[in-house]
Amino acid sequence: MNSSLIGWGFYVPERIVTNKELESYIDTSDEWIQERSGIKERRFFKPGKDTVSTMAAEASKKAIEIAGIKTEDIDMIIMATLSPDYFFPGSGVLVQRLLGLKNIPAFDIRQQCSGFIYGLSLADQYIKTGACKTILLIGSEVQSGIMEISDRGRDIAVLFGDGAGAVILQASEEPGILSTHIHSDGEFAEELYMKNPGSINPDFVSKQMIDDGELLPYMNGRMVFKTAVQKFPEVIEEGLVQNGLSSNDIDLFIPHQANARITEFVREKLGLPEEKTVSNIHKYGNTTAATIPIALAESMEAGLLKKGDLLCLAAFGSGFTWGSAFIRI
Ligand code: UT7
Repeated sequence: MNSSLIGWGFYVPERIVTNKELESYIDTSDEWIQERSGIKERRFFKPGKDTVSTMAAEASKKAIEIAGIKTEDIDMIIMATLSPDYFFPGSGVLVQRLLGLKNIPAFDIRQQCSGFIYGLSLADQYIKTGACKTILLIGSEVQSGIMEISDRGRDIAVLFGDGAGAVILQASEEPGILSTHIHSDGEFAEELYMKNPGSINPDFVSKQMIDDGELLPYMNGRMVFKTAVQKFPEVIEEGLVQNGLSSNDIDLFIPHQANARITEFVREKLGLPEEKTVSNIHKYGNTTAATIPIALAESMEAGLLKKGDLLCLAAFGSGFTWGSAFIRI
């Protein structure tokens, strides 16, 4: 049995925040943001309306409709997010509740930017062993509330956004996921992380942390960049070798949308033409676990993939974690 991709959907909050708007809160410039990252605008959630789980449920409903299945056909929910609604339980069970599903396993994975690839890998194992037939896999993030829209938080605040994407994977004799390769190296955990709130602290969370700006994500941007441009090609090559393919066989490449310069570097390294590489970071910024499923759903809607095409996905991020997936559509 293969894990076939049969449904896809995405949801982004209505509120568009342009670089120009950020200029009014932060000592930054549209020029700097576009030049360094390729981002022009991103979406910020509407408090009281959007949460990680509600956005995930909206994306999931679209994926279910496209798949032409009944919601009750889903026998597992895998939720990738670094920004769950609650500290615990995870948001997977909240999506389960919103979809009106009972008893099936629903769980969160915390693999940040690589969350969707890790989720594909997990889903594929459950389907290949026959344990599950139909899996809903989601990447959803509300990051605008975690960031500080200020000079102090500017390294992060100009890069990240909110949104959700979902896919349905189903056991099939048709082709589907050909391979997934996933990796991690905890040696670099603190190069891109959010330390607080956390059980490592005696207080878990304190006013001091807020005052000292320690309740914010931290990223060693240059170091992450350098490692990303090394790991992306490596892990893609791993998949190509396993499948006996070359980069010429790739019909569409959807990398995690962290930085347009990273995407460009990897595209050139693979020798792929621009039209075979998806970049939507200018519209949504970096939505972490949601970038790939959003871009995938958009690509499907735009007719960029047809039956039999080879899709290559790859991601790198906090952990460090990284991975690739090859899917025959
Ligand atoms: O999705 C998870 C994985 N994440 C990534 O893969 C992101 C990887 N890293 C990056 O994308 C890039 O490193 C950034 C976009 C984060 C930064 O680009 P950079 O070219 O590495 O810039 P930099 O951090 O080296 O900063 C260059 C300058 C600095 O000023 P000086 O020291 O040259 O005077 C910064 O202080 O830009 C300054 N700067 C800013 N200026 C305006 C930093 N942030 C900003 C800002 N607006 N928001």
